[in-house]
Amino acid sequence: MTFKRGLFLCLDGLDGSGKSTQCRLLADWLRAQGRTVTLCYEPGSTALGEQLRAIVLQHQHPVCLPAEALLFMASRAQLVADVIRPALAEGQTIVCDRFELSTIVYQGHAGGLDLQQLREVGRLATGELEPDLTLVLDLPLEQARARRDRPADRLESRDEAYHQRVREGFLAEAHRRPDRIKVLDASATTEAVQTLIREEVTRVLATGPWA
Ligand code: TYD
Repeated sequence: MTFKRGLFLCLDGLDGSGKSTQCRLLADWLRAQGRTVTLCYEPGSTALGEQLRAIVLQHQHPVCLPAEALLFMASRAQLVADVIRPALAEGQTIVCDRFELSTIVYQGHAGGLDLQQLREVGRLATGELEPDLTLVLDLPLEQARARRDRPADRLESRDEAYHQRVREGFLAEAHRRPDRIKVLDASATTEAVQTLIREEVTRVLATGPWA
């Protein structure tokens, strides 16, 4: 079944916030309502994106901060072109695990790159496409760290202060765009957090041209 206009949903947040599980549960729920859903994640989800993911997340090469930001942006540009725009054009619902907000927060707020410049490169990468709704899964750093179930990648191994700036960056960006970015408390159980997510998505579905 397709709808009047595709809906672009994004989940974002700290590593260990449970985004990936929540994305899958959200996609299952939307499909059960008869929607055609494309689930994707960043960096990755395209052939180019998977190669860039390996470069940027593994510990093999030194990657300076502007290069890091541009690699994430390049992966995003390909994802938008190959997956997100075509699916939206068919009226599908997109559930994306991270998007431009991650670069603004990790490489900008936490890394120190200029936010305005990053937003401009972001416009180039996405062709100014932005999610209709981004849900930021927020929880204390210690809890996020405790939930991580595998060895840290290159970014996850950055220090506590970096991840604290990531958390604060998400909150600041949500404050700046309250119409598009909502913060949810992700410290509860998986089921309770999924309920909060579904409430927000239900609210958006009731208001937009996709209703
Ligand atoms: P992700 O695959 O979401 O990690 P996980 O599956 O562990 O939640 O993201 C990998 C890492 O890349 C994560 O530490 C966040 C970081 N990242 C950025 O720094 N900038 C970006 O633009 C994106 C998309 C991710």
